[in-house]
Amino acid sequence: MSAAARPDAAAKVAGQARYLADLPWPDLLEGVLVGSPRGPGVLLGLDLEAARRVPGVVAVFAAGDLPATGAVDHWALGQTRVGLAGPDLAHAGEPVALVVASDRGAAREAARRVGVRVRTRPPRHRLDDHLDEAIAIEDWMPSDTTVGDLAAGLAEADVVVEGEYRTASRHHAALEPAGAVARWEGDALELWTATQWVYGVRAALAQVLGVPVDRVRVRTGPVGGGFGAKGSAWPHEVLAALAARALGRPVRILLDRRQSFTAHGFQPATVQRITLAARRDGTLTAIRHHGVSAAAAGEDYVEHASLGSRGMYACPNIETRDRVVRLDLPQPTFMRAPHEGPGMVGLEIAMDELAWALGRDPLALRLANYAEADPTSGRPFSSKALRECYTLAAERFGWSARVPEPGAQRRGRARIGFGMASALMTTFRSAANARVTLERGGTLLVESAAHDIGSGIHAALTRIAAEPLGLDPDRVEVRLGDTNLPEAGGTFGSSATLSVGSAVREAAVALRRRLEELGGEPGLRPEEYDEVLALRRLERVSEAATWTPKRDPGAWAMNAYGAVFVEVRVDEDLPVPRVTRVVGAYSAGRIISPVTARSQVVGGLIWGLGQALLEASPVDPATGRFVATALSGYRVPTQADVPAIEVLFAEESDPRASVIGARGVGEIGTIGIGAAIANAVYHATGIRVREVPIRVQTLLG
Ligand code: MOS
Repeated sequence: MSAAARPDAAAKVAGQARYLADLPWPDLLEGVLVGSPRGPGVLLGLDLEAARRVPGVVAVFAAGDLPATGAVDHWALGQTRVGLAGPDLAHAGEPVALVVASDRGAAREAARRVGVRVRTRPPRHRLDDHLDEAIAIEDWMPSDTTVGDLAAGLAEADVVVEGEYRTASRHHAALEPAGAVARWEGDALELWTATQWVYGVRAALAQVLGVPVDRVRVRTGPVGGGFGAKGSAWPHEVLAALAARALGRPVRILLDRRQSFTAHGFQPATVQRITLAARRDGTLTAIRHHGVSAAAAGEDYVEHASLGSRGMYACPNIETRDRVVRLDLPQPTFMRAPHEGPGMVGLEIAMDELAWALGRDPLALRLANYAEADPTSGRPFSSKALRECYTLAAERFGWSARVPEPGAQRRGRARIGFGMASALMTTFRSAANARVTLERGGTLLVESAAHDIGSGIHAALTRIAAEPLGLDPDRVEVRLGDTNLPEAGGTFGSSATLSVGSAVREAAVALRRRLEELGGEPGLRPEEYDEVLALRRLERVSEAATWTPKRDPGAWAMNAYGAVFVEVRVDEDLPVPRVTRVVGAYSAGRIISPVTARSQVVGGLIWGLGQALLEASPVDPATGRFVATALSGYRVPTQADVPAIEVLFAEESDPRASVIGARGVGEIGTIGIGAAIANAVYHATGIRVREVPIRVQTLLG
């Protein structure tokens, strides 16, 4: 593999990439947040004297000491509660004090010595206990959709399946916990932060701090995993800025692993009621998907679990609802493949149940209901190669060898199950700007305020920029993550490569044209670029471009798709399901960087394996806090859990989605696999599981 296939890799594996915690800052103070050990309730008081006596401590702040001066409703803010809490405590773990010291050891020691006196009330923490309190919240996506006549669709069906499906609360568990460093010069703020969205953090902080946007610069280096937890601005970023302003020195707040369970969002649990109705031949006549997710008191985040059901299958009668129940938990947020990730666990297990009820092959049932246009809006798809995905993955997996009866496939003392599921993720696009500069000597500089969250953006932008100029990718240098660079949207929603890549492509094409003009001939060869610059006495030549996705509501529906097939092995004596094989095929437009696209999908599949078998975050009712305080208490897949994974991509280009023909591959791998595993467990054992993670207790009967 050439270095250009993964330009950021060498520095990362050699430990040379510098993350937030590695950066040296002159005169730096270290801040440590103190979370309430229990909640919700009332903060009766703080005992700060012991903390203040720790050598090196510069300040200990409590509620009211660091007031935000502006409004706290910017949509790039993860939550409206941005300050130190008290006397009212919304949930356990909420920050009630900020200790600032000359070094991190002193700050941590002092934080441990802060006495927090609270009076708590029993936490409302289980979604199932409060389903009758579900309410609709209007956010950026409709909470209700209705197509056709559900009752009529149910009435004309031969078979109806109905079920309640559950997904658990989960945490992002990024390798690098979030953190920020704030430094003021006069009234200008520079904030370095581990974020997926520098421009969003800038806009939100400017509002919260009451300073003009152009007095705030936000930067980020490589980010050690975001997965959505770093997609918004969170209180530690605001508090670092406020403390640095109050003290007149740079302040860094690094969340520790324990705080990464409470100090920013998580994925809320969902309960989904789904009804599918079909005629004997398998044609769907009705889909009803009602989802409920956990929300925080006074905050708005909706897990739109029914989203996938709005677009997945051709059906004339579809009713979807998304509701929330306010609980005493931290504010939830987007997590890798939000909405469809939890939601398609429900839909795709239900489809498997329908297949069994009809006596049909689960794959054939999907094909019988293949949507040729968006079933909710009626719009045609920009491009969709899901049929090819089903064929590619089924063949590669060997689906046709499946013995249909549950429990019929055995290997020694183990039962072997095959399961499959579809995946859909709505395509998200954002406006992007980029600048491409050719320097004398041959370096091609690519600049845009996108973010390196480990997903392969360097590889993609390197290829995209080099190609129209005919340059060796090794000559490309990519600069990201700074509000002094051309604006881009957040690196989330699987949108960065398609959006920023489109702007980079257009800038590179413009630069090629400009070089030809300067050289006076259209057939200019890359080896001649330097001569042209020398001739024109230029040190560099630069072109910028803006790409704006068309938001024509009459036009196209856009989704990424997948078809995922899994094999599980369930031992007869101790039925711990083990995934032994995964084959996924994906339709995401043109694949720009095969190495990193594959890596993204493999990561997503492993993520979905965690969802299906391991990840859940219950609350301790005594403290109101998530039980997990470390990765030892929150299980994510390790190498030993990960089977052979094969990833295939449909040959496709989608010029309606982006200039470069790409949709997005960042999250689609996460979707579908959870249901495919549950469906394979049914095939192995005959036990229908409607809740993830799948528990051994359920399989013991
Ligand atoms: Mo992702 S939840 O779009 O960072």
